[in-house]
This record gives sequence, C-alpha cells and structure tokens, in this order.
Amino acid sequence: AEAPVPYDVVIIGGGPGGYNAAIRAGQLGLKVACVEMRATLGGTCLNVGCMPSKALLHASEMFDAANSEFAKIGIEVQPKLNLGQMHKAKDDSVTALTKGIEFLFKKNKADWIKGRGKIVAKGKVEVTAADGSVQTLEARNIVIATGSEPTPLPGVAFEAGKVIDSTGALSLPAVPKKLIVIGAGIIGLELGSVWRRLGAEVTVVEFLDRITPGMDTEVATAFQRTLTKQGMVFKLGAKVTGAKPVKDGVELTVEPSAGGAAETLKGDVVLVAIGRRPYTEGLGLETIGVTPDKRGFIDHDHFKVAGQVNEGGVWVIGDVTHGPMLAHKAEEDAVAVIDTIAGKYGHVDYALVPNVVYTFPEVAWVGQTEDQLKAAGIAYKKGKFPFTANSRAKINHETDGFVKVLADAATDKVLGVHIMGPQAGEMIHEAAITMSFGGASEDIARTCHAHPTRSEAVRQAAMDVEGWMMQA
Ligand code: FAD
Ligand code: NAI
Repeated sequence: AEAPVPYDVVIIGGGPGGYNAAIRAGQLGLKVACVEMRATLGGTCLNVGCMPSKALLHASEMFDAANSEFAKIGIEVQPKLNLGQMHKAKDDSVTALTKGIEFLFKKNKADWIKGRGKIVAKGKVEVTAADGSVQTLEARNIVIATGSEPTPLPGVAFEAGKVIDSTGALSLPAVPKKLIVIGAGIIGLELGSVWRRLGAEVTVVEFLDRITPGMDTEVATAFQRTLTKQGMVFKLGAKVTGAKPVKDGVELTVEPSAGGAAETLKGDVVLVAIGRRPYTEGLGLETIGVTPDKRGFIDHDHFKVAGQVNEGGVWVIGDVTHGPMLAHKAEEDAVAVIDTIAGKYGHVDYALVPNVVYTFPEVAWVGQTEDQLKAAGIAYKKGKFPFTANSRAKINHETDGFVKVLADAATDKVLGVHIMGPQAGEMIHEAAITMSFGGASEDIARTCHAHPTRSEAVRQAAMDVEGWMMQA
C-alpha cells in the first residue's frame, strides 16, 4: 500500500490552544489533525472550566439579585432555586459550544482524531481510541496542547461528592450547607461565590496571608473586604494538612502556615482549588528527548520544543507551557505557532494578557501591579477613581470598587490598569488597546467617553494621573 500523505500539523489536545491551532491551520490551507481523547472538543475551558463556571456565575448572580437587590428598586419576587434546571441550562450551553467547535473543524477541514495521542518518534503520533484500536499519524509538525489538571493536595484525597475539584464543584447535585474551599485563588473565589449565592456557608482557607496572589495588593485588599461583606469567611495564613471523610461531611485539619496549634474545620463539601498543573501523562515526551521542568511545564524557544526551524518539529502552546494559564493566552500561543509554521510572523505579548475574575463585582487588570513596579524600581504616577463617584454605578446601585491607572512617571506611558467593579472584564480592554499602542495616560484622559457609562471611571482615573480636575 502507498504511504499515507503526512499531515502538515498534528495537534495533541483540543482545548482553546489546540482547537484554535487546528482552525487557524485549516484556514491557512495546512493539512491538519487534532487528537482529542475527551468525548467533545473544547478542552477544559468549554467542558469543565471557563464556560460552565460562567454559566453558574451568571445564574447565581441573578438569583442573588432577585433575593437581595430587586426589592430595593421596587420589584417584589420570591425566587425559588431549581438547581436541576440551572445545571441543565449550563449543560445545554456547553453542548452548543462544543458542537460549535466541531462545526468549525468541518468548515475549515481540520480532522478530529478521537483518542489518546502519544508521540512515538519524531513526526509520529500514535492514537489509541476508546475501543482500543490504534492508528499512527505522520506529521511534519507536532503541536503539544495537552493543557492542565487540578493540583492535588497531599493528605486530602479526592472523594466524589465530598472532597472535590473544580469539575465536581460545577455539578454538585445539591447546595451544600457548609462548603470549605482550600485556596483563595480564582477558582476558589469564583466557585465559592456561586455556592454562597445559592445558599451555602462558604469558608475559604488560604496558605498565604492574602487572597489572589498576582492581583495588585490594594485591589486584593478591597476585593477581600467586599467578598467578606457578602458573607464569605476567610481563614488566611492557614494550611490544610489532612482530611477525614466522616458520615455527614469532611473534617479538615488546619494549621497556621507559620506553625502552631492545629484545629479542625468541618464542612459537608470541600473544594480543593490550590492551582493547576501541566498535563503530560503518557505523552511520550521521552521518545523525542524532551523533559518537562521540575513543575511539569514544557520549556520552549519561540514555542519550539525540538527540531530545526523550517524543518518541522515539535511545538508547545497553552497551559502545558509557561505563561498565565488562561484560555485567551492559549489562543494567542496557538495562532502564533500556526502562523510561524505557515511561514508567517507569529508573536504574543505576554505583558498584555488581561486577567479577569468573574465574581461580583468583577476584578480585571492588564499590565503591571503596583507591587511589581515597586519591586522593579520603576517610578510611576497613580490615578484612582471610585465607582461611588460614577453616575452610572450610582444609578445602578453598584458603587463598590474603583479604577486605578498606573503610568510611567517620566513618559506617562500606561504601565498597568486595575479595575474592581461590575463589568470590569469588559472595561479592561480599552486599557489593553491603549497599552498595545504604547499609549499614555493622557491619551485615555483626552478621549471622549460616553455618558453615563462605567467606562467614564477609567477616563477619570487617567485624568487623576494627569492631576486634572475630576468631574465628580
Ligand atoms: P485544555 O483546555 O486543558 O485542553 C487540553 C485538552 O487536551 C483536553 O481536552 C484534554 O482532554 C486533551 N488531552 C490531553 N492529553 C491528551 C492526549 N495525550 N491525547 C489526546 N488529548 C489529550 N481561563 C480563562 O481564560 N477564563 C476563564 O474564565 C477561565 N475559567 C476557568 C474555570 C475553571 C473552573 C477552570 C478549571 C479553568 C478556567 N480557565 C479560564 C482556564 C482555562 O480553562 C485554561 O487556561 C484553558 O483551557 C487552557 O487551554 P489548553 O488548550 O492549553 O488546555
Ligand atoms: P490559583 O493559582 O489562582 O490559586 C491557588 C491559591 O491556592 C493561591 O492563592 C495559593 O496561595 C493557594 N494555595 C496553594 N496551596 C495551598 C495550600 N496547600 N493550602 C491553602 N492554600 C493554598 O489556582 P486556582 O484557583 O486553582 O486556578 C487555577 C488556574 O485556573 C488559575 O491560576 C487561572 O489560570 C485559571 N482560572 C482562570 C479563571 C479566570 O480567568 N477567570 C477562572 C478559573 C481558573
């Protein structure tokens, strides 16, 4: 028999990294296959990450508003939770989204090869399907996009329905009376918010003496205050050293991080959300001489893991390599790699990847935090504007939070923008665009913003950097 025509690109993993790579490759006319072992495309993000979590955040936010906000503006209702329907609406949306990716694969002639992929030699990927059948794909280029998985906590074994990870927390069949979250990171606070709004008492145990490491400290402090006001309880500077499932829940042993006497916390459900780790199990990296770093990430040089540029090779994108573990970062990596393979120019600006926490209020930022600027010894100017002085926020009774603009002291170039407030995740992009053009704070301050919008607060914070009079 004739040898099969090799693929230009074989991608392992069908998440935001892998599916965007596959679609882009198809659009550029490359012969492409994407190997995905899950029953649906879309990876962590569409199946058990970004999308189902945002569905529950949206639904629970509306439930919460109906319970506590509607009456204030003259709408009297008695909301009743139908959790089954809430999960169904979420699952239906997820199905529509994953089918959408399948459609885009067909439209752009990207082959989805169902099964687990393993690199067996340079240019060869062996795929084992669910029924055990095996095929080998020939590839000029292999793109590793295998993503990440929840990091387990030693001494705290997962147990269905009791000690769960984010996937379990997206499909709890009933609202727990008491939920203990381990880790005050993004997953802990987003999913903790969901279940608190639906009626759970939520306690968050965090190793550090602050929440959301990576977030600007001033913002994180305000954010913690707001979440506390909403009823979330924080136990900072504390580590969980053991978990014992009991008949009606789980008993956790908690010690001060700095050492000291242990105490016991009991919850009916425990969510472990202490971070995610790269996933490379059974990938056959050893067959191409690649060893992940000590935290499990695959290193690369301009996405290239092995092989000579222009001769094909092995590339890596998304959560399994360095950079923020975010869907839009995986997507940026994907397009850059495929464009490079296709002989075009591929580039990602890691300094301008926006971060959004989809709680209420949202927190969003792009660029550097004050902590980073101080540590780097960069002289900066700071402008701030509170939503209490923004007319739209006032009219909507949503005045919690502020905008902070950080600009270079000498040049006025915007170095970082931080927003806490409803829709911060939508508002952050004017900052990202300004920064991608190397814009100054004065550029934002001189740009006409529509009234009344929350975005006026961004302009006002930029005006504050300039020392101009505020319109409040
Ligand atoms: P993944 O999405 O993890 O996809 C990798 C895929 O590869 C998986 O489908 C896996 O089955 C497959 N795979 C692995 N190994 C093999 C193999 N050997 N053969 C075949 N297939 C394989 N990010 C955001 O930007 N915004 C958010 O709001 C957000 N919310 C999140 C909420 C939660 C609860 C979680 C857990 C994550 C969230 N993230 C969010 C992070 C986001 O999901 C990831 O950054 C993103 O999915 C990474 O994309 P990826 O393609 O690198 O990997
Ligand atoms: P994370 O890294 O955001 O936070 C983990 C938290 O757990 C940190 O505060 C850390 O100090 C703490 N921690 C670590 N070990 C601990 C221990 N033993 N005991 C107590 N606390 C401990 O990780 P998280 O929340 O699991 O999310 C993983 C990643 O998923 C995020 O970093 C992000 O990249 C992505 N994600 C993004 C979202 C978004 O963009 N909105 C939403 C959800 C996830």
